Amino acid sequence: MGFLLFLSWWCFCIFSASHPSTAATVSDSLTKNQVLKDGQTLVSSGQRFELGFFSPGSSRHRYLGIWYKNITITVVWVGNRNNSITDLSGSLSMGSNGFSLLANKSETIWSVNSTRVLESPILQLLDNGNLVLREENNHDPEGYVWQSFDNITDTLLPGMKLGWNLKTGLYRNMTSWLSADDPSAGDYSFSLDSPETPQLVLSKGTQKQYRWGPWDGVRFSGSNELRSNPVFVPMFNSSRDEVYYTFEVVDQASLLSRFVVTQDGLIQYLTWGKSNNEWVAVVNLQRDSCDRYGTCGPYGNCYNDGPSCKCLKGFTPKSPEDWSRIDWSGGCVRNWDLECENGDGFVKYGGKKLPDHSHLAASRNLSLEECEAECSRNCSCMAFTLIDIHGNGGDCVMWFADLVDMRNFPSGGDDLYIRMAKKELESIADAKRNKRVKMIIIIVICAITGMLLFGGIGWCTFRMIRAKRRGESLNNPYRDFIEETQEEDLELPLFSLETLSTATNEFSFRNKIGQGGFGPVYKGLLPNRQEIAVKRLSQDSGQGLREFKNEVILIAKLQHRNLVKFLGCCIHEEERMLIYEYLPNKSLDSFIFDPTRRKLLAWNKRFHIILGIARGLLYLHQDSRLRIIHRDLKASNILLDSEMNPKISDFGIARIFGAEQTQERTKRVIGTYGYMSPEYAMSGHFSVKSDVFSFGVLVLETISGKKNWGFWHPDHDLNLLGHAWKLWNEGIPLELVDAVMEEPYSVNEVVRCIQVGLLCVQKRVEDRPTMSSVLLMLANENAIVPQPKEPGFCIEGSSKGMDTSSSGKNPHTANELTVTMLDGR
Ligand SMILES: *[C@@H]1O[C@H](CO)[C@@H](O)[C@H](O)[C@H]1NC(C)=O
Ligand SMILES: *[C@@H]1O[C@H](CO)[C@@H](O)[C@H](O)[C@H]1NC(C)=O
Ligand SMILES: *[C@@H]1O[C@H](CO)[C@@H](O)[C@H](O)[C@H]1NC(C)=O
Ligand SMILES: *[C@@H]1O[C@H](CO)[C@@H](O)[C@H](O)[C@H]1NC(C)=O
Ligand SMILES: *[C@@H]1O[C@H](CO)[C@@H](O)[C@H](O)[C@H]1NC(C)=O
Ligand SMILES: *[C@@H]1O[C@H](CO)[C@@H](O)[C@H](O)[C@H]1NC(C)=O
Ligand SMILES: *[C@@H]1O[C@H](CO)[C@@H](O)[C@H](O)[C@H]1NC(C)=O
Ligand SMILES: *[C@@H]1O[C@H](CO)[C@@H](O)[C@H](O)[C@H]1NC(C)=O
Ligand SMILES: *[C@@H]1O[C@H](CO)[C@@H](O)[C@H](O)[C@H]1NC(C)=O
Repeated sequence: MGFLLFLSWWCFCIFSASHPSTAATVSDSLTKNQVLKDGQTLVSSGQRFELGFFSPGSSRHRYLGIWYKNITITVVWVGNRNNSITDLSGSLSMGSNGFSLLANKSETIWSVNSTRVLESPILQLLDNGNLVLREENNHDPEGYVWQSFDNITDTLLPGMKLGWNLKTGLYRNMTSWLSADDPSAGDYSFSLDSPETPQLVLSKGTQKQYRWGPWDGVRFSGSNELRSNPVFVPMFNSSRDEVYYTFEVVDQASLLSRFVVTQDGLIQYLTWGKSNNEWVAVVNLQRDSCDRYGTCGPYGNCYNDGPSCKCLKGFTPKSPEDWSRIDWSGGCVRNWDLECENGDGFVKYGGKKLPDHSHLAASRNLSLEECEAECSRNCSCMAFTLIDIHGNGGDCVMWFADLVDMRNFPSGGDDLYIRMAKKELESIADAKRNKRVKMIIIIVICAITGMLLFGGIGWCTFRMIRAKRRGESLNNPYRDFIEETQEEDLELPLFSLETLSTATNEFSFRNKIGQGGFGPVYKGLLPNRQEIAVKRLSQDSGQGLREFKNEVILIAKLQHRNLVKFLGCCIHEEERMLIYEYLPNKSLDSFIFDPTRRKLLAWNKRFHIILGIARGLLYLHQDSRLRIIHRDLKASNILLDSEMNPKISDFGIARIFGAEQTQERTKRVIGTYGYMSPEYAMSGHFSVKSDVFSFGVLVLETISGKKNWGFWHPDHDLNLLGHAWKLWNEGIPLELVDAVMEEPYSVNEVVRCIQVGLLCVQKRVEDRPTMSSVLLMLANENAIVPQPKEPGFCIEGSSKGMDTSSSGKNPHTANELTVTMLDGR
């Protein structure tokens, strides 16, 4: 898992608060009978933290708080979060045995008194942000009477402990602020559950929303985020007295950092970026939808590709209908019911996030066999595993309820041993035996084949030739055309050459509105005043009869708001033309790449366009009767109608896939530089995911107003994708946004779009989302959007290897070039 830096754009944790007006600093401490009035502050000895009264956001209420001294006010602790003071009369007053927070000079809001008599009490703000009440001559943390580190609000500072002090019964958890204006306890709390099998839990009210754990000696099961990294060292400590999570900063002296639960329920590790004066989220604990509590229901296993749920082996969906409707919450049930007295056994499931509701078996330091024996003795024990929670060589952990909240976690998951019925064990054994038998048969066959080597070669050659012939005939769209027109009586209006010639002023230059990959496009006016666009295929273009018929068939069948409407075609000797509705606003590239016209596209227009393209593409990919890969999605193929609704056009090289087919390989790599996915450009493999890639490029181009192919930056030779990825990792994704785009726009929306764009252009085909999840993530502001991985073709040059003729050093020469390539093999 990469270690990602990114900006917490939604982070409302930086609470701008009005500085106390007449800031008068007393020192770093108060002694007996001293008073800190509203307006005065204590500053820690190293000038790092400051204590005083503040008003958060637009609130006028006053709170006692601790914040960083040198930076924009960021409050890390609030004393009276539940009892604000309504005016400036608040004061912090040291008594003989403790301190009190007073309002209106006399009314006690909150006080802390020592149970034993103190000789010379002192309330001191330490340089780590801890406010401590202690005996003046006692510097031992064990001897503190009270400390603010024991009273966590929403922030964990380095050295603060989240969890349990079993000796004193103290339980420390984090609770979010209610809002940026109100530090009182909000909905979300983050805590370390159950000292025996500690796990991290984010709850909203009483409902668990996220859970990681239990601690397995290395990590909280299912999370790699809280492991050592170059910036901070997370620590889990468990002893007889204490069980807690804490962290240390590697560069303690200069780096400001904190761990917060935001009022939106995000758990983030933030560091202060000195150069840009902002908090940067180095780690977001919530990574993807699979982290969400119980996504897949009991015995469901969450895979982060969508996400999707699968039942564990040996289980089937409880309600197949719900399951197929993507409602996984019902989970799975066993194929065979357990019969405890009749020889149940255990099956190992590797690489899992361990389920919720674990129990530590009474005796520690058992072997795996002893642990199994212990579990099989009790019929309600559903599963067990052996992990090293407490650092004593291995703890036997058991589950006594349905197993919920698991996920597939190949990079560091745990083993889980689940109780299964005897019949299931037998069928597993059978399957194994069958496999072995099959292996033996294969070996025998191989041996025989070896003996018949010569015959074998002849046979293989024959087969290959036959297969090749068959493949060719399958790939021939001409045959498809004939078959399909016979099947379905397509009522294609045919236009005569004469009509079109009149409509376009004999294809005059003045009527020409564009130049597509396969020939010029003309605007025309039919006698009935209907405006049309005529695509006249050049006779020497790559698009032969093959592409032409392909396009005709495809587009005649397709009808969608976001696809350009097809009116008919014209075939006259060598002439071939396609007739579409005329769209007055031309194509997307004439807006976003045009220095003046792009100012017309405010964010909501751009977002509308992105959504429209996504809908059109989703229709092509899965909602129409066919599965269609467009293969040449680019800005110049997105036309805009008078209301700026985007319409996908140019199906010249689109391909129809059978319902079962997911991928195809072609020797003719046709497409446009800058939009082609790596697997397509390199090896001709294309699938819906190569369209997703092109869509991602389009999204980033639309946001930035810059071309991917032809992108140039003074500081590096990355292309637009690489540039976007770089900004993303630096936590400044908004730098990508087109400078002419005027605020206000929804920062959330823009960042989500960038994130989705980056997800679409990921290098690995499997990592790219499908259009349905793209649309879900774009249209739904509460959707969880996974963290993108590295994009394919980050560097301009990396796609050059394919074609040496057209790609000079100057990237501007090659813009908008549709290329056709035959790969050598
Ligand atoms: C805060 O600023 C003061 C004075 O500008 C400086 O002496 C001090 O070292 C700074 N503290 C931190 C933690 O940067
Ligand atoms: C934390 O502070 C609140 C008042 O803000 C108080 O009610 C509570 O008892 C404190 N808890 C501890 C452990 O000091
Ligand atoms: C603040 O109030 C809420 C509910 O009113 C309560 O659950 C919480 O414990 C209080 N917090 C403190 C620190 O007193
Ligand atoms: C303090 O006095 C003001 C008016 O003088 C009153 O509104 C407020 O409620 C008082 N504060 C408390 C905590 O009683
Ligand atoms: C602490 O002592 C002060 C003054 O002695 C008193 O006003 C306050 O009520 C005491 N608080 C508690 C919680 O006992
Ligand atoms: C957080 O701690 C408080 C007491 O310190 C407790 O009342 C509350 O239930 C805890 N929240 C969770 C989610 O455990
Ligand atoms: C846990 O804490 C104890 C005492 O606070 C300390 O001695 C020990 O080294 C800590 N262990 C780890 C693994 O940090
Ligand atoms: C099985 O374990 C559960 C949970 O620990 C316990 O309540 C139950 O009594 C045990 N049953 C037997 C037969 O030991
Ligand atoms: C765990 O048990 C093994 C033998 O079963 C023993 O050698 C080892 O010292 C034990 N570890 C602890 C921490 O008790």
